[in-house]
Amino acid sequence: MKLISLAILFCIITFTNTFAQVDYASQIQPIFSANCTGCHGGTSGVTLNSYSAVMNSTGAQYGIKIVSPGNAALSPLVEKIKANPSKGGRMPQGGSLSSEQITLIETWINEGANSVPTSIEDDAKTPLTFALDGNYPNPFNPTTTIRFSMSNSATVLLQVYSIRGNLVLTKNAQFGSGSNQIPVDLHGLASGTYLYTLTAHSPSFGIQRVNGKMLLIK
Ligand code: HEC
Repeated sequence: MKLISLAILFCIITFTNTFAQVDYASQIQPIFSANCTGCHGGTSGVTLNSYSAVMNSTGAQYGIKIVSPGNAALSPLVEKIKANPSKGGRMPQGGSLSSEQITLIETWINEGANSVPTSIEDDAKTPLTFALDGNYPNPFNPTTTIRFSMSNSATVLLQVYSIRGNLVLTKNAQFGSGSNQIPVDLHGLASGTYLYTLTAHSPSFGIQRVNGKMLLIK
Protein backbone atom coordinates (compact mmCIF):
# COMPACT_ATOMS: atom_id res chain seq x y z
CA MET A 1 0.00 0.00 0.00
CA LYS A 2 2.83 2.35 0.94
CA LEU A 3 4.57 1.53 -2.33
CA ILE A 4 1.46 2.33 -4.34
CA SER A 5 1.04 5.69 -2.59
CA LEU A 6 4.69 6.45 -3.31
CA ALA A 7 4.26 5.51 -6.96
CA ILE A 8 1.21 7.76 -7.27
CA LEU A 9 3.01 10.59 -5.52
CA PHE A 10 5.93 10.14 -7.92
CA CYS A 11 3.58 10.35 -10.91
CA ILE A 12 1.99 13.50 -9.57
CA ILE A 13 5.36 15.12 -8.95
CA THR A 14 6.71 14.22 -12.40
CA PHE A 15 3.49 15.41 -13.92
CA THR A 16 3.44 18.70 -12.07
CA ASN A 17 7.04 19.43 -13.01
CA THR A 18 6.39 18.82 -16.67
CA PHE A 19 3.58 21.26 -16.53
CA ALA A 20 5.20 23.88 -14.34
CA GLN A 21 8.11 24.79 -16.62
CA VAL A 22 8.75 28.51 -16.42
CA ASP A 23 8.24 30.56 -19.58
CA TYR A 24 10.80 33.36 -20.00
CA ALA A 25 8.70 35.78 -22.07
CA SER A 26 5.55 35.74 -19.93
CA GLN A 27 7.03 35.10 -16.46
CA ILE A 28 10.65 36.30 -16.22
CA GLN A 29 11.13 39.24 -18.57
CA PRO A 30 8.17 41.13 -16.98
CA ILE A 31 10.00 40.99 -13.60
CA PHE A 32 13.14 42.48 -15.14
CA SER A 33 11.18 45.07 -17.12
CA ALA A 34 9.34 46.26 -14.01
CA ASN A 35 12.29 46.23 -11.59
CA CYS A 36 15.63 46.28 -13.37
CA THR A 37 15.79 47.70 -16.87
CA GLY A 38 15.52 51.29 -15.62
CA CYS A 39 19.21 50.93 -14.67
CA HIS A 40 20.35 47.80 -16.49
CA GLY A 41 20.78 48.84 -20.09
CA GLY A 42 24.46 48.17 -19.42
CA THR A 43 25.08 49.22 -15.79
CA SER A 44 27.92 47.15 -14.32
CA GLY A 45 27.99 44.96 -17.47
CA VAL A 46 24.34 43.97 -17.09
CA THR A 47 21.59 44.47 -19.70
CA LEU A 48 18.20 42.95 -18.82
CA ASN A 49 15.85 44.09 -21.59
CA SER A 50 15.78 40.88 -23.66
CA TYR A 51 16.49 37.15 -23.34
CA SER A 52 19.68 37.31 -25.38
CA ALA A 53 20.93 40.39 -23.52
CA VAL A 54 20.39 38.67 -20.17
CA MET A 55 22.18 35.51 -21.31
CA ASN A 56 25.11 37.49 -22.76
CA SER A 57 25.64 39.82 -19.79
CA THR A 58 28.95 39.45 -17.95
CA GLY A 59 28.87 41.23 -14.58
CA ALA A 60 31.65 43.80 -14.15
CA GLN A 61 32.25 42.79 -10.53
CA TYR A 62 31.75 39.02 -10.78
CA GLY A 63 33.59 38.73 -14.10
CA ILE A 64 31.38 35.84 -15.28
CA LYS A 65 28.07 35.46 -17.12
CA ILE A 66 25.28 36.46 -14.72
CA VAL A 67 23.20 33.36 -15.64
CA SER A 68 24.65 29.86 -15.37
CA PRO A 69 21.99 27.65 -17.08
CA GLY A 70 20.91 24.74 -14.87
CA ASN A 71 22.57 26.19 -11.77
CA ALA A 72 20.83 29.01 -9.94
CA ALA A 73 23.24 28.77 -7.00
CA LEU A 74 26.20 29.63 -9.25
CA SER A 75 24.44 32.51 -11.03
CA PRO A 76 25.42 36.05 -9.93
CA LEU A 77 21.95 37.17 -11.05
CA VAL A 78 20.42 35.05 -8.26
CA GLU A 79 22.98 36.01 -5.64
CA LYS A 80 22.30 39.69 -6.35
CA ILE A 81 18.51 39.46 -5.83
CA LYS A 82 18.94 37.77 -2.44
CA ALA A 83 20.01 39.42 0.82
CA ASN A 84 23.75 40.11 1.37
CA PRO A 85 25.38 39.34 -2.00
CA SER A 86 29.17 38.86 -1.86
CA LYS A 87 29.71 41.86 -4.17
CA GLY A 88 27.84 45.18 -4.05
CA GLY A 89 24.25 45.67 -2.82
CA ARG A 90 21.02 43.71 -3.10
CA MET A 91 19.09 44.15 -6.36
CA PRO A 92 16.92 45.88 -7.35
CA GLN A 93 18.99 48.70 -5.85
CA GLY A 94 16.96 50.31 -3.07
CA GLY A 95 14.35 47.50 -2.88
CA SER A 96 13.84 43.77 -3.18
CA LEU A 97 11.83 41.29 -5.23
CA SER A 98 9.16 39.11 -3.56
CA SER A 99 10.19 35.61 -2.50
CA GLU A 100 7.81 34.24 -5.19
CA GLN A 101 9.62 36.24 -7.88
CA ILE A 102 13.01 35.06 -6.59
CA THR A 103 11.86 31.42 -6.59
CA LEU A 104 10.50 31.80 -10.12
CA ILE A 105 13.84 33.14 -11.39
CA GLU A 106 15.74 30.32 -9.61
CA THR A 107 13.36 27.73 -11.08
CA TRP A 108 13.75 29.16 -14.58
CA ILE A 109 17.55 28.94 -14.31
CA ASN A 110 17.51 25.45 -12.76
CA GLU A 111 15.27 24.25 -15.61
CA GLY A 112 18.00 25.30 -18.05
CA ALA A 113 17.34 29.06 -18.50
CA ASN A 114 15.56 28.38 -21.79
CA SER A 115 13.97 31.09 -23.92
CA VAL A 116 10.88 28.86 -24.35
CA PRO A 117 9.94 25.86 -22.19
CA THR A 118 11.75 22.91 -23.80
CA SER A 119 10.18 20.67 -26.45
CA ILE A 120 6.96 22.60 -26.92
CA GLU A 121 8.20 25.07 -29.51
CA ASP A 122 6.54 23.17 -32.37
CA ASP A 123 3.23 22.97 -30.57
CA ALA A 124 3.00 26.55 -29.44
CA LYS A 125 0.93 27.80 -32.39
CA THR A 126 -1.80 25.15 -32.69
CA PRO A 127 -4.62 24.88 -30.14
CA LEU A 128 -5.19 21.38 -28.82
CA THR A 129 -8.04 19.12 -29.80
CA PHE A 130 -8.24 16.17 -27.46
CA ALA A 131 -10.82 13.44 -28.08
CA LEU A 132 -11.62 10.18 -26.36
CA ASP A 133 -12.34 7.25 -28.68
CA GLY A 134 -13.46 4.90 -25.92
CA ASN A 135 -11.98 1.62 -24.69
CA TYR A 136 -11.95 -1.71 -26.51
CA PRO A 137 -13.03 -4.28 -25.65
CA ASN A 138 -15.80 -3.11 -23.36
CA PRO A 139 -16.96 -4.96 -21.26
CA PHE A 140 -13.54 -6.51 -20.61
CA ASN A 141 -11.69 -8.99 -18.36
CA PRO A 142 -9.20 -7.93 -17.09
CA THR A 143 -7.42 -5.95 -19.87
CA THR A 144 -8.68 -3.27 -22.23
CA THR A 145 -7.18 -0.44 -24.28
CA ILE A 146 -8.20 3.20 -23.99
CA ARG A 147 -7.87 5.11 -27.27
CA PHE A 148 -7.69 8.86 -27.71
CA SER A 149 -6.44 11.35 -30.26
CA MET A 150 -4.73 14.71 -29.90
CA SER A 151 -3.68 17.45 -32.29
CA ASN A 152 -0.45 18.13 -30.36
CA SER A 153 2.02 16.13 -28.33
CA ALA A 154 1.35 16.36 -24.60
CA THR A 155 1.82 14.67 -21.28
CA VAL A 156 -1.27 12.61 -20.51
CA LEU A 157 -2.33 11.36 -17.10
CA LEU A 158 -4.78 8.46 -16.83
CA GLN A 159 -6.67 8.02 -13.55
CA VAL A 160 -9.06 5.09 -13.07
CA TYR A 161 -11.60 5.14 -10.22
CA SER A 162 -13.96 2.56 -8.82
CA ILE A 163 -17.64 3.54 -8.74
CA ARG A 164 -17.11 4.43 -5.06
CA GLY A 165 -14.48 6.97 -6.03
CA ASN A 166 -11.37 5.04 -5.02
CA LEU A 167 -8.38 5.66 -7.28
CA VAL A 168 -7.32 2.21 -8.51
CA LEU A 169 -4.81 3.01 -11.26
CA THR A 170 -2.74 5.94 -12.52
CA LYS A 171 -0.48 6.14 -15.55
CA ASN A 172 1.39 9.14 -16.84
CA ALA A 173 3.33 9.46 -20.09
CA GLN A 174 4.22 11.73 -22.99
CA PHE A 175 2.21 11.05 -26.17
CA GLY A 176 2.55 12.32 -29.72
CA SER A 177 -0.10 13.93 -31.93
CA GLY A 178 -2.61 11.65 -33.70
CA SER A 179 -4.11 8.40 -32.36
CA ASN A 180 -2.77 7.00 -29.13
CA GLN A 181 -3.52 4.01 -26.90
CA ILE A 182 -3.09 3.24 -23.23
CA PRO A 183 -3.37 -0.42 -22.18
CA VAL A 184 -5.19 -0.97 -18.89
CA ASP A 185 -5.02 -4.07 -16.72
CA LEU A 186 -7.49 -4.30 -13.82
CA HIS A 187 -6.67 -7.85 -12.68
CA GLY A 188 -7.37 -8.40 -9.00
CA LEU A 189 -10.21 -5.86 -8.95
CA ALA A 190 -13.90 -6.60 -8.51
CA SER A 191 -16.39 -6.74 -11.40
CA GLY A 192 -18.25 -3.51 -11.96
CA THR A 193 -18.19 -0.09 -13.57
CA TYR A 194 -14.98 1.93 -13.49
CA LEU A 195 -14.68 5.61 -14.33
CA TYR A 196 -11.61 7.16 -15.86
CA THR A 197 -10.20 10.57 -16.59
CA LEU A 198 -7.56 11.46 -19.16
CA THR A 199 -5.84 14.77 -18.51
CA ALA A 200 -3.61 16.27 -21.19
CA HIS A 201 -1.10 18.86 -20.02
CA SER A 202 1.19 21.11 -21.96
CA PRO A 203 2.61 24.56 -21.24
CA SER A 204 1.34 25.69 -24.67
CA PHE A 205 -2.35 24.87 -24.17
CA GLY A 206 -2.75 24.28 -20.43
CA ILE A 207 -4.98 21.45 -19.24
CA GLN A 208 -7.72 19.54 -21.04
CA ARG A 209 -9.69 16.64 -19.59
CA VAL A 210 -11.97 13.91 -20.98
CA ASN A 211 -13.93 11.32 -19.01
CA GLY A 212 -15.02 7.76 -19.78
CA LYS A 213 -16.66 4.72 -18.26
CA MET A 214 -15.83 1.01 -18.61
CA LEU A 215 -17.22 -2.28 -17.37
CA LEU A 216 -15.13 -5.10 -15.88
CA ILE A 217 -16.98 -8.43 -15.95
CA LYS A 218 -15.35 -11.59 -14.60
C1 HEC B 1 18.54 51.86 -9.36
C2 HEC B 1 19.40 51.17 -10.33
C3 HEC B 1 19.40 49.66 -10.33
C4 HEC B 1 18.31 48.81 -10.38
C5 HEC B 1 16.83 49.17 -10.38
C6 HEC B 1 18.85 47.47 -10.45
N1 HEC B 1 20.21 47.52 -10.43
FE1 HEC B 1 21.46 45.89 -10.56
N2 HEC B 1 23.06 47.13 -10.29
C7 HEC B 1 23.02 48.51 -10.18
C8 HEC B 1 24.34 48.99 -9.89
C9 HEC B 1 24.71 50.47 -9.67
C10 HEC B 1 25.20 47.86 -9.81
C11 HEC B 1 26.69 47.83 -9.45
C12 HEC B 1 26.86 48.04 -7.95
C13 HEC B 1 26.37 46.90 -7.09
O1 HEC B 1 26.55 45.75 -7.44
O2 HEC B 1 25.77 47.17 -6.05
C14 HEC B 1 24.36 46.71 -10.10
C15 HEC B 1 24.82 45.42 -10.17
C16 HEC B 1 24.06 44.31 -10.56
C17 HEC B 1 24.59 42.99 -10.79
C18 HEC B 1 26.03 42.55 -10.64
C19 HEC B 1 26.84 42.76 -11.90
C20 HEC B 1 28.32 42.76 -11.63
O3 HEC B 1 28.85 43.83 -11.44
O4 HEC B 1 28.93 41.68 -11.62
C21 HEC B 1 23.53 42.20 -11.15
C22 HEC B 1 23.57 40.73 -11.53
C23 HEC B 1 22.36 43.03 -11.11
N3 HEC B 1 22.71 44.30 -10.74
C24 HEC B 1 21.08 42.59 -11.35
C25 HEC B 1 19.95 43.36 -11.17
C26 HEC B 1 18.60 42.85 -11.27
C27 HEC B 1 18.24 41.39 -11.59
C28 HEC B 1 17.77 43.89 -11.02
C29 HEC B 1 16.27 43.84 -10.95
C30 HEC B 1 15.67 42.85 -10.08
C31 HEC B 1 18.58 45.06 -10.78
N4 HEC B 1 19.89 44.70 -10.86
C32 HEC B 1 18.07 46.33 -10.53
C33 HEC B 1 21.90 49.29 -10.33
C34 HEC B 1 20.59 48.83 -10.35
